[in-house]
Amino acid sequence: MKDKLVIGNWKMNKNFEEAEELLEDIAEALEDWVLRSTVVLCPPFPYLEMATDYADESGHFACGAQNCAEFEDGAYTGEVSAKMLHDVGVQFCIVGHSERRKYFGESSENLSKKVNLLLENDIIPVFCCGELQNEREHGKQFDVVSAQIKEALFHLTAEQFEHVVIAYEPVWAIGTGLTASPKQAEEMHAFIRTLAEKQYGTEIAYNLHILYGGSCNAQNALELFMQPNVDGGLIGGASLKANDFLAIIEAAETVGKEE
Ligand code: 13P
Repeated sequence: MKDKLVIGNWKMNKNFEEAEELLEDIAEALEDWVLRSTVVLCPPFPYLEMATDYADESGHFACGAQNCAEFEDGAYTGEVSAKMLHDVGVQFCIVGHSERRKYFGESSENLSKKVNLLLENDIIPVFCCGELQNEREHGKQFDVVSAQIKEALFHLTAEQFEHVVIAYEPVWAIGTGLTASPKQAEEMHAFIRTLAEKQYGTEIAYNLHILYGGSCNAQNALELFMQPNVDGGLIGGASLKANDFLAIIEAAETVGKEE
């Protein structure tokens, strides 16, 4: 199995000082590690340049943004372009997080444009998908996730799709303490891989990183990461404390080494 990918999504948390402290703590702790996993930190926009400086110096993690504009440049007050992110050293960008779909009305159409611009600027889109609680209660989770992926990603060529990461984040598990069971996660991840395989073939589907997100923490990470189709995690709350996040990275490393 390929090496794991662990991404911390800080969301809209931390003041400048706290952000620097967290970056420092993580960089310092990872200094002595020989990592197989890829670690990515996604702080809010104003801290990205500081974060990429830490990342460059450390060499043990990369930086991601939490969003980007769907336009290339121009009169779009308040927006940040993929090119700007690239220019400050950002290598990953979360796209279509359920919070953006819910609070900012992002549609598949918006998301497909963002994905295109990120790829044009050599940034890896971390595309989020996942069903609402009532959709799962009605057995619609596979239809929902399949539509989200097809609508926003399947216009890509195989060469482009190779540079995409997918994060399965069931909305009912985000920030709620309700984690998908390892079985539920594995079932959805296997479904997503099969979708990718039908569209892009076995090799690309095999190499695709499919992350789990939603109340993933230091206690449950190992069991989730042990599932054959779970290639790492997109971590919210537990990425805000260095020790919790480091324990999750350690879980990823443990699984990686066992195989
Ligand atoms: P929590 O880990 O806080 O549930 O958040 C998950 C998430 O939304 C990561 O993008």
